[in-house]
Amino acid sequence: MLTDCADISVSSQPGAVVFADSLGASLAAILRHLDHDHLALVTDNNVAPLADKLLSGSSSALSAPRVVIPAGEENKDIKTLEEVWQGFEAASLTRRSIVINLGGGVVTDLGGFAAACYKRGIRFINLPTTLLAAADASVGGKTGIDFCGLKNEIGVFALPQATIVSTSPFATLPDREFYSGYAEIVKMGYVADFSRVGAMLDIDRIKNDPAALKEVLSFAIEAKQAIVDADPKEQGLRRVLNFGHTAGHAFESLLLSRGKGITHGCAVAHGILVALILGHVICGMPSAPISPYVSFLRENYPRLPIGCKDYPELITLMHNDKKNRGKGVSFVLLNEGMHPLESIAVSDGQLTDALDLYRDC
Ligand code: GLY
Repeated sequence: MLTDCADISVSSQPGAVVFADSLGASLAAILRHLDHDHLALVTDNNVAPLADKLLSGSSSALSAPRVVIPAGEENKDIKTLEEVWQGFEAASLTRRSIVINLGGGVVTDLGGFAAACYKRGIRFINLPTTLLAAADASVGGKTGIDFCGLKNEIGVFALPQATIVSTSPFATLPDREFYSGYAEIVKMGYVADFSRVGAMLDIDRIKNDPAALKEVLSFAIEAKQAIVDADPKEQGLRRVLNFGHTAGHAFESLLLSRGKGITHGCAVAHGILVALILGHVICGMPSAPISPYVSFLRENYPRLPIGCKDYPELITLMHNDKKNRGKGVSFVLLNEGMHPLESIAVSDGQLTDALDLYRDC
């Protein structure tokens, strides 16, 4: 459920998303409703210098022991996880304690996973500071770490006690972080309401209009929440949220392994184009929506250093995707009515052709 911070009672329902002007004040109000002994704050070294300002209004969060992890997807690993658990030990957390995750998707994924396993599971609250974490990572209860070069290979479904979203931290985001999160918002347009996509692709207008940004972000969160509520453990419907992610994760993993890491949303933005091409070729999706998306992608996201010699590795990565079902690589694709179909099997030959078309666009 998405609500304004005025209705703080919603925080008693795990998974609630609360819009707030002030993260700290809203957190303080929520904590007042939650019986707890200790708190610990998980954040990263980019956000840590801003933590006092962001948490202003919550004296207990301001004075909580801080576990500061190194920023970046390459640190969403078991070594950092162990350091976070050591931080929880040092903070003497108990089963009545609450972890506050303040940061982007790495912090909310890893901090949520650390809390979900610690003493068989303690509560956590997400305070996303990036558009990506607000639109996707901190909503819906997926927590975890990367392992063996695979994204989110180890993890559990565990709902935060609440996710508090304020758009104010996004004003200072570097452009690449803004565009990263924006890709997940556009994804929600494709999977939940295609009629919104045309307006969403006008990113310059939305980036410069806080009310318009809040409107598309609210839409993305509400649409995701509705899907997660219907299928919390991804038995069927929730798979549509992986639109753009099958190729996207492969791009992301390949480039990360080469020390040329890109943002998650940039990878998803490119993966969406691969999915649109495959939807047209395999599921009868009309071709007309591809061209505006190509313009959006090329104007706002860097081209990826991917050549045809990379296809075998990319296709192997896609075969390793934990969301595959049965033969071939499973994709979420759009049909002739621009509605998502989950688990469409795509052959290696179709993937190769689609990657060629993607690179030619
Ligand atoms: N990020 C996709 C999901 O939450 O299911």
